[in-house]
Amino acid sequence: MGTTKSSPAVNGRPYALIQRLLHWLIALIVIVLLAAGTVIGTLGYDGLVAQFGSDVTNLMYTTHKTFGIMVLILMVLRLGLRLAIGAPGYDRALPGWQMIASRISHWGFYVLLIAMPLVGWLATAAGGYPVDFFNWTLPGLINKNPELSKTLFELHALIGLLLIVLILVHAGAALLHWLVWRDGVMARMALRTRRD
Ligand code: HEM
Repeated sequence: MGTTKSSPAVNGRPYALIQRLLHWLIALIVIVLLAAGTVIGTLGYDGLVAQFGSDVTNLMYTTHKTFGIMVLILMVLRLGLRLAIGAPGYDRALPGWQMIASRISHWGFYVLLIAMPLVGWLATAAGGYPVDFFNWTLPGLINKNPELSKTLFELHALIGLLLIVLILVHAGAALLHWLVWRDGVMARMALRTRRD
């Protein structure tokens, strides 16, 4: 499909609608999880209870775990779609360095956003805490091991930092494509496109 005279900025086809919906849904959940997780990690269980009481604290933990596992499910679905139907081609090739940077950052997101909930799951289980998913408790998968739990929670925090850096780089690049280079790359992930 080529560009038209009335839409000169459109660069190739957009991603499939389901891929675009998943992108923005996951982005929203992950940003909230990173913010809420940082509050949880900074104050800790006792600090949270002192601030908000135990009901709200337990709800915060359960909600964090539930939405974290939802990210895992949505990311597996997203990875399956990416491998099955791929990504749309560009009408005009991007400069080589931009292609390399986008490949690294996009696959970086797949790796980090699948590793993050898995590590959170295992860290929780190794600490002897329930792996909550809505009203269910999922299997812990590993035995209680407080030392391992501590290390895995440190890894959970480290991946969180890497995700924040990657999100800033990714959002900065998206804004450059959209507002400065105006090359239509942003339209590939827009929820409403001229081609829907
Ligand atoms: C994409 C998914 C997830 C994101 C973005 C995320 C993000 C975070 C962040 C940023 C922290 C704060 C780390 C720190 O500074 O100490 C945190 C803490 C925590 N996360 Fe997650 N998380 C995710 C998934 C999960 C899952 C699936 C579970 C468990 C089933 C989980 C359990 C926890 C727990 C229990 C803490 C508190 C750790 C502590 O008290 O030190 N997370 N999360």
